[in-house]
Amino acid sequence: MAEPLHPVPRHVAIVMDGNGRWANRRLMPRVVGHKFGVDALVRIIHASAARGIEYLTVFAFSSENWKRPQDEVSGLMNLVMVAVSKYLARMAEDGVRIRIIGDRSHVAEKVRAAWDHAEARTANNRRITVSVAFNYGGRWDVVQACQRAIAEGLRPEQIDEAALSSRMSLTYAPDPDLFIRTGGEVRISNFLLWQTAYSELYFTDCLWPDFDERALDAALEDYARRDRRFGRVKTDIAPSGEVVSLPAGS
Ligand code: IPE
Ligand code: IPE
Ligand code: MG
Repeated sequence: MAEPLHPVPRHVAIVMDGNGRWANRRLMPRVVGHKFGVDALVRIIHASAARGIEYLTVFAFSSENWKRPQDEVSGLMNLVMVAVSKYLARMAEDGVRIRIIGDRSHVAEKVRAAWDHAEARTANNRRITVSVAFNYGGRWDVVQACQRAIAEGLRPEQIDEAALSSRMSLTYAPDPDLFIRTGGEVRISNFLLWQTAYSELYFTDCLWPDFDERALDAALEDYARRDRRFGRVKTDIAPSGEVVSLPAGS
């Protein structure tokens, strides 16, 4: 295996974009691109675990993706069941814990059942936690955290960043260190708005089905050269955000 890259991000978040264009270029239906996108995801999950990444969070279906043609939406839903039955056993054996983040309320029962099964089967694994954002939106996440805080009876003065953070998705993970978007677009598209406040952003033209170990390593190398400051002047800060040491007087 290649030399380990330092520092390795603890948490990587990915907008897996470009499946449709990948298929179009091959004169194939968009849903074929999504199918190859699942294969790319499985490769990247195993590669991430091998590189010591502890948390991987991927955008699979956004709150806005319901606006796509009906056949593409149903193709994506079917792919969830196919992917779980095809890949779950190997992931479970490889120490992968799967979590789903997003609004489950409008997702069909059989899709919810597949996700519930994947979560339950892998619940005790700890090598890498893969969070699949499905019917997820960053704005939805903020709103649902506020709704929960109010439902729990918090008074306005009790609502602070910690109160919302603890009710947001991904409370079990540190904030993403590295945010990757494939497919050439340079935007967030309503992914993790709250949690990426200090993530390092990396955009690549590579279409998601082509994103392989080499492409991941290129992103990790780029990340390793970043100077994370978190608003400070000095650079003696661990990739986790922890301040290692500060010179006297700073
Ligand atoms: C990302 O690929 C996957 C989903 C949004 C489900 P796209 O389907 O957005 O692919 P492009 O951007 O049209 O190429
Ligand atoms: C973001 O990609 C959502 C996912 C990758 C699941 P989109 O293709 O939906 O984003 P836009 O429409 O280009 O902003
Ligand atoms: Mg897209």
